[in-house]
Amino acid sequence: MKLLVTAGPTREPLDPVRYLTNRSSGKMGYALAHAAAHAGHRVLLVSGPTALEVPDGVDFLPVETAAQMFEAVSRHIGRMDAAIHAAAVADYRPAATAEQKIKKTGETLTLELLRNPDILGSCRDAFGFDGVLVGFAAETGNLEANARDKLRRKGCDLVVANDVSQPGIGFDSDRNRVLLVHPDHTEPLPEDDKHALAHRIVHEVEALLAAKHRA
Ligand code: C5P
Repeated sequence: MKLLVTAGPTREPLDPVRYLTNRSSGKMGYALAHAAAHAGHRVLLVSGPTALEVPDGVDFLPVETAAQMFEAVSRHIGRMDAAIHAAAVADYRPAATAEQKIKKTGETLTLELLRNPDILGSCRDAFGFDGVLVGFAAETGNLEANARDKLRRKGCDLVVANDVSQPGIGFDSDRNRVLLVHPDHTEPLPEDDKHALAHRIVHEVEALLAAKHRA
């Protein structure tokens, strides 16, 4: 299959030397790209800035901001069989990016932020994507209910949900414990290395694609 994977954080510039970002390491997305390429699939990895090496055999499209990731996904998703959105896209960006470094003047500084576009949430309607669509959900409470709500709202075939309030797993870690939230059932997976989970998730996507072809 042809698979698009989004990964990593996005970086939203405030001025030439500062930005807003988050703790995503990109490890889950890169593990997914690696697992899929290893299984013989054609992978396009659209990634925000990370410290990771691009897996062998993967086409790589680096981006910085959510707007750039949105543009890259909108341009390439049309020819994909499946898309896994593992990026931790910043929900907001600074309303303005200063051309010069912002000087420290007052005792307080107020930033105005604007909502970023929802890339995963744009796939079905705005981009007209009808392939297998997989999202991630990082939640600190009501994990399954929130993930199921996300699955419906964003038109996903599968949401991989992880509880980010658990120390040592999930964000910025090598391990994760996730729930596979399907439209009609939920499957909890035991805590595992992100590479092992990636193989499992790629397998799930292959099965979803086969089922779509049969339908
Ligand atoms: O709505 P929430 O951010 O919790 O959803 C997480 C899922 O949506 C992840 O799959 C993430 O990659 C994707 N997402 C996105 N664009 C955004 C925000 C989230 O693609 N602006």
